[in-house]
Amino acid sequence: MRNAAITGWGMAVPDRVLTNADLERMVETSDEWITSRTGIKERRIVGAEDSTTSLSVTAARQALDTAGLTAEDIDLIVVATCTPDQFLVSQACLVQAELGGTAGAFDLGAACSGFVYAVAVGSPFVQPGRHDRVMVIGVDTLTRFVDYTDRSTCILFGDGAGAVVLEATDEPRGLLSTVLGADGAGYKHLYIPGWGAFVPESAELFPEYRPYLHMNGQEVFRFAVRVMGDAAVEAVEKANLTFDDVDMLIPHQANMRIIDAAARRLALPREKVWVNLDRYGNTSAASIPIALFEAAEAGKLAEGDNVVLVAFGGGLAWAAGMVRWGTAGVCHDAECRKSAAVVPESERVPAGRASDTESRTTKTLAGG
Ligand code: UT7
Repeated sequence: MRNAAITGWGMAVPDRVLTNADLERMVETSDEWITSRTGIKERRIVGAEDSTTSLSVTAARQALDTAGLTAEDIDLIVVATCTPDQFLVSQACLVQAELGGTAGAFDLGAACSGFVYAVAVGSPFVQPGRHDRVMVIGVDTLTRFVDYTDRSTCILFGDGAGAVVLEATDEPRGLLSTVLGADGAGYKHLYIPGWGAFVPESAELFPEYRPYLHMNGQEVFRFAVRVMGDAAVEAVEKANLTFDDVDMLIPHQANMRIIDAAARRLALPREKVWVNLDRYGNTSAASIPIALFEAAEAGKLAEGDNVVLVAFGGGLAWAAGMVRWGTAGVCHDAECRKSAAVVPESERVPAGRASDTESRTTKTLAGG
C-alpha cells in the first residue's frame, strides 16, 4: 500500500487586518476580554478584491512551488470549505479554472474540521491506478457570514486558505491514522441558515432564519474541549505510537483555552503546540493548513516527525490524524515522477479478478 506524503504547502490571508481595538469601536467588548477568553489579538478579513477562490489559488500555487510541481501534475483537487464562492460549480472547479490542468475536482463540507477530513479522503486516492498527486485545500471566508453586531461571534473569525500537495511514497509518510466523527444532532450549536435549497414558507415561522453564523459558544466550547482531547489521543493510539512520540500538535485555532486543554491531554509542552490564532483568529477549514505551513516554514518539522492534527467545528464534527512528516521515498526528479505515474505491470489488477475488498473500494470511490 502506498502512502501520501505531504510534499508541498502554501497559505494565503487577506491584507486587511481587524484588531481587537477595531472591534472595541464596533461592539461592546474589550481587548482584555477577547485576549483572556480566546487568545485572539487580530484577524484577517476579506475585502472586495478577495474571494474564496483568490485565497485558494494563492495558497495552491505556493504549495505547487514548494513541491516543485505544476498544476498539470496534479491528478485530483479536494477543497474543504463551508463558504464556497458559489454552489454551482464546485469551489474546486473554480480553483482549477485559475490553476489550469485537468485534475478531478470536488468539494468537501465539514466546516472547521474540513481540512483534516479532506486529507483523510484525499490520501487513499494516492494509490497505483488511481492518482499520484492530490492537492488538498482548506479555505473559508466566514467573515462574509458574520453578524458584526453580535459580539459573541464577530470577535472570533478571520479568513484564509491553506493548501498541501500529497504525493505517493512507499515509505511510512503522510497520514498514519485517522479519526473522523460527528454529532449531527448538535448542528444548531453552530450553523448558518439560508443560502441553501431549503426556503421557509414564512419568515415569521423561522425567526432565526437569517443568513448569519449562529453559535452557542458555551455548548461548542464544552464539546470542543471533550472531542479535541479524545480525538487527538485516539489518533496517537491508532498509529501505534505514544504521547512521547509526538513532535508537534497542530490544533484547530479557535480558542487558546481549548488548545491548552488538548495539549494537556497529550501531556505536550507549549513548544510542541503550534499556535497562531493571536494573528489570524479562527479561519475555519484554513486554520490547520495555515498552521502547518507556518510550522514547516519555521523549520519546526523535520523528516520523520510525528505531527498530530486535530480539529472540531460545525456539524458538530471533529477530525484528527497522525501525520508522519517528510518526503522519504517520493520521486523528486521529473523522469522518476513520470515513470511513477505509470502503474507497474505487477500491480495491475486484471478485469474480473479483483479481490472483493478492492472491488468494493473501487465502487465506493467511483460512486462518490
Ligand atoms: O470553530 C469553532 C468555532 N466556535 C468556537 O470555537 C466557540 C467555542 N466557544 C468559545 O470560544 C467561548 O465560548 C467564547 C469565546 C465564544 C465565549 O467565551 P465564554 O467564556 O464561554 O463566555 P460566555 O459566553 O460564558 O459569556 C460570559 C460573559 C457574558 O456576560 P454575562 O452574561 O456574564 O454578563 C457574555 O455576554 O461575557 C459576555 N460576552 C462578552 N463580553 C465582552 C460575550 N461575548 C463578549 C465579548 N466581549 N465579545
